[in-house]
Formats: sequence, C-alpha cells, structure tokens
Amino acid sequence: MSDTPWRDVLDVADLEESWVTRVDLGSRKLAVYDTPSGVYASLALCNHGGADLCDGYFDGHVIECPLHQGAFDVRDGRPVSAPATRRMRVFETRVKDGKVQVRI
Ligand code: FES
Repeated sequence: MSDTPWRDVLDVADLEESWVTRVDLGSRKLAVYDTPSGVYASLALCNHGGADLCDGYFDGHVIECPLHQGAFDVRDGRPVSAPATRRMRVFETRVKDGKVQVRI
C-alpha cells in the first residue's frame, strides 16, 4: 500500500457527472473521471502528443484524446486504441467526506 498521503483535489459537488473534470494542482494538471464504477484520476496531458484529455470524449471508462483519437482506460491507464501505445499515468483516487481525494 502506498504511503503517499491523500490530497483533496475537488469537491464531489463540482464533479461533472459521467464526464471528465479538469483540476489544476499547481504545475500539474489532472483529469478526474466520474464513471459507473467510481472516480478515477490521471495526468491531463496525453502521453502521445501532449493534448489535453479534458477536451476529449469520455464514455464509460474510456477517454478518447481530442487530437489523434488515441484512447485509454481510465481505471488502469492502459491504451485501448491507437495511436496511444503507452499506459497513461493514473493515481489512486477515492471519495471521502464530500471530497475527491487523490494520492499524488
Ligand atoms: S496527442 Fe493524444 S493521441 Fe495523439
């Protein structure tokens, strides 16, 4: 189990329902996903060409990049559609006391 502390990143009330929400944490940008099986978070920038995944299309557990339509499963970051080939960085995420918390 990670010893990285949990960090509040967003009020649950501000989460876009069944969609992706952008969160700025200083120089880091996160994409937070509301899915049928819970909340997940990843770095917001696509690891293929740097596009902002928060501007992409989100459906179920899959985020599709707006630039070249590469896609990732937000639960574990694995690429599910080319040209994405590398796993995206995801973070352990939970909801507690009305906040979305991420280990980052
Ligand atoms: S920048 Fe995301 S698939 Fe190319």
